[in-house]
Amino acid sequence: MSWNPDQYLKFAAPRFRPAMDLLAGISLAAPKTVYDLGCGAGNVTRMIAERWPGAVVTGVDDSAEMLKKAEQEMPGVKWVQQGLAEWQPAGPADVIYSNAALHWLPAHEKLFPELVAHLAPGGVLAVQMPRNFNAPSHTLITDTMLSERWRAKFANFTMRTPATGPEWYYDLLAPLAKRLDIWETEYLQALEGKDPVKEFTKGTWLRQFLDALPESDRDAFEEDYAARTRIAYPQRADGRTLFPFRRLFIVLQKA
Ligand SMILES: C[S@@+](CC[C@H](N)C(=O)[O-])C[C@H]1O[C@@H](n2cnc3c(N)ncnc32)[C@H](O)[C@@H]1O
Repeated sequence: MSWNPDQYLKFAAPRFRPAMDLLAGISLAAPKTVYDLGCGAGNVTRMIAERWPGAVVTGVDDSAEMLKKAEQEMPGVKWVQQGLAEWQPAGPADVIYSNAALHWLPAHEKLFPELVAHLAPGGVLAVQMPRNFNAPSHTLITDTMLSERWRAKFANFTMRTPATGPEWYYDLLAPLAKRLDIWETEYLQALEGKDPVKEFTKGTWLRQFLDALPESDRDAFEEDYAARTRIAYPQRADGRTLFPFRRLFIVLQKA
């Protein structure tokens, strides 16, 4: 899937608030080795490096576009271009952090225990994933895709399975943890600009649907979806649009 860091960073403040909430959930004082999986444009990696200046921080991502932006902004961090399904640390890690990335990967029943296995004793796995898949922002993408006009164009499209619920992760991870903290937060995002819900999802989830279409169809698909979001998320009197967004947080400490 193609990533555009500028589109993603249009909504930097609401995207980085959960990243900071996740970072605040880690209580280690001075980890030595820290990995940021799916580091994207490196903005969150910068916050990680600032929190633990004595740590060796490595950002891992498979998008050349995102890593190029990261390298420009933060030369002091190690950047590795690699798929997360194949990633392994050089040695046991003190912190494996991942904000808004692991929901792109399948087979969490295998992936998450493998990540825990890569931790040093007492190490922390900290993960945040969006859980807004049942909200109109996401169901309207599917509605548009399955509508009369577009259905045939998506005949060969494979739907990703989004992250499941907190209880599922609890059952999977509790046997591997000394401490396990799982929570959900729904952020009431007050967004500015024209069609902000469409612009927000265009930085992430919508991208894969646009990529599946010929270039000549993309604007029309975007407009069809945008028209639906205008009804589901009306502009308020002050011109802003309220876009509630649910996110799942997992912080695990290994015994
Ligand atoms: C929504 S962005 C989040 C970026 C960053 N963590 C942040 O919070 O700003 C998701 C990132 O995950 C990366 N990603 C998704 N699937 C991946 C995979 N299988 N392997 C490596 N990186 C992946 C994408 O390239 C993208 O940069």
